[in-house]
Amino acid sequence: MKKVRKTMKKETMTTKDKKQAFIDACMSKFESNSDGDYILTIDQLKDVAGDFGMKYPPQWLVKNQEFKVGKGLFKLPSLGEITKVHASRLVQAAEQYESPEIEKLPETETKQEAAYIVSSLTGDIVPKKDDTFIPFGDFSSIKSIIASRKFYPIFITGLSGNGKTFGVTQAAAEKKRELIRVNITIETDEDDLLGGYRLKDGQTVWQNGPVIEAMERGAILLLDEIDLASNKIMCLQPILEGSGVFVKKINKFVAPKNGFNVVATANTKGQGSEDGKFIGTNILNEAFLERFPITFEQKYPSVKIEQKIINKILEKDGVNDSEYAEKLTVWADVIRKTYFDGGVDEIISTRRLVHIAQAYSIFKNKLKAIEVCTNRFDDDTKSSFVDLYTKVDKGVSADDIMEQQRQSDIGISDDNEDDEDSQSVI
Ligand SMILES: Nc1ncnc2c1ncn2[C@@H]1O[C@H](COP(=O)(O)OP(=O)(O)OP(=O)(O)O)[C@@H](O)[C@H]1O
Ligand SMILES: [Mg+2]
Repeated sequence: MKKVRKTMKKETMTTKDKKQAFIDACMSKFESNSDGDYILTIDQLKDVAGDFGMKYPPQWLVKNQEFKVGKGLFKLPSLGEITKVHASRLVQAAEQYESPEIEKLPETETKQEAAYIVSSLTGDIVPKKDDTFIPFGDFSSIKSIIASRKFYPIFITGLSGNGKTFGVTQAAAEKKRELIRVNITIETDEDDLLGGYRLKDGQTVWQNGPVIEAMERGAILLLDEIDLASNKIMCLQPILEGSGVFVKKINKFVAPKNGFNVVATANTKGQGSEDGKFIGTNILNEAFLERFPITFEQKYPSVKIEQKIINKILEKDGVNDSEYAEKLTVWADVIRKTYFDGGVDEIISTRRLVHIAQAYSIFKNKLKAIEVCTNRFDDDTKSSFVDLYTKVDKGVSADDIMEQQRQSDIGISDDNEDDEDSQSVI
């Protein structure tokens, strides 16, 4: 940015000269829009004012409705306009501009004009209740915290697709609390979280980020997949302490409204993923994690609960097949137990079971539904999952399958015709 050159000595400048000098400085420092108009934010005007040794932009500009084209946005006038438009008011304003009191405007007044603040959120942001949701695990505790309206940040960790995000949104839905969800990535930074200047209808405007929006509304802020973040999320530190945050770019202190709370979800505990299962997860700063007073470890739902979930999905899709729901969940349970024993590298999540149930309602073919939804795994894993389902479908119980598997692991072969199957269930 070019530094402003003061072309005329102060004592020889008339009021008109001063105004022109200010406008010239603005024009040399900032770009015009495609119509050739110079539309500047209050911060940009302040910046130029600073070059003139002033703390605030001139009043003849910012207090004149003719030049104000939006909240905190001003269109620079031409010199002709300055002299023509409301001459008497401008002269009066110019006089004020020269008076030293103006440079000591009370702080609150400046804050109101700090920027044009736009919310991207309109209307109701209370999540909708979902009929397919079945509560389980720590749901009631999460709901109690949300209902309490207390500031008490929650960290929820658990394997993928086991209802962490769904549980939080449904807790907010039940308690009719506003919720703003932010999906964190390695790229997430202060601009995404707190806000930034955006181009809107050809104008540069300030737009609140989701964190500021949630604080100002007293809403629940859901930081989803927080362990994908880089250290750029450290700007949230004061917010996680329940205190407000000073947003430098708009020179404004934002204090949280009653009801504001933060919930973070993650596949890890913020210590990275040792087995490499969760690519992209990062080690979160210890001091950051310390600011979450409570952590819930979310497990997969029990077979019984999961059966209810799958039945609901099937019912919703007009399929009545509780036997399939039962077998699918037993199948998933065996796979999970084997996964935790280290016998297989992949797991079937609740999300995947839902996908299988949906595929079944489309294709009306149980095995095909499983196949298309497990195609993403490598060939061995996929065929072992499909084989396992055929066993479950034939009525072999989960306990028997696990026992067969245990025997095959320790090398016991009972030499009967099922021998081939018993060698490798998964
Ligand atoms: N309690 C539940 N009741 C009904 N369906 C559920 C429940 N929990 C999970 N599901 C199903 O599983 C899907 C995945 O849940 P969700 O997106 O909350 O998982 P997650 O734990 O946040 O996963 P990730 O770690 O990958 O973000 C949901 O869209 C829903 O279909
Ligand atoms: Mg999630």
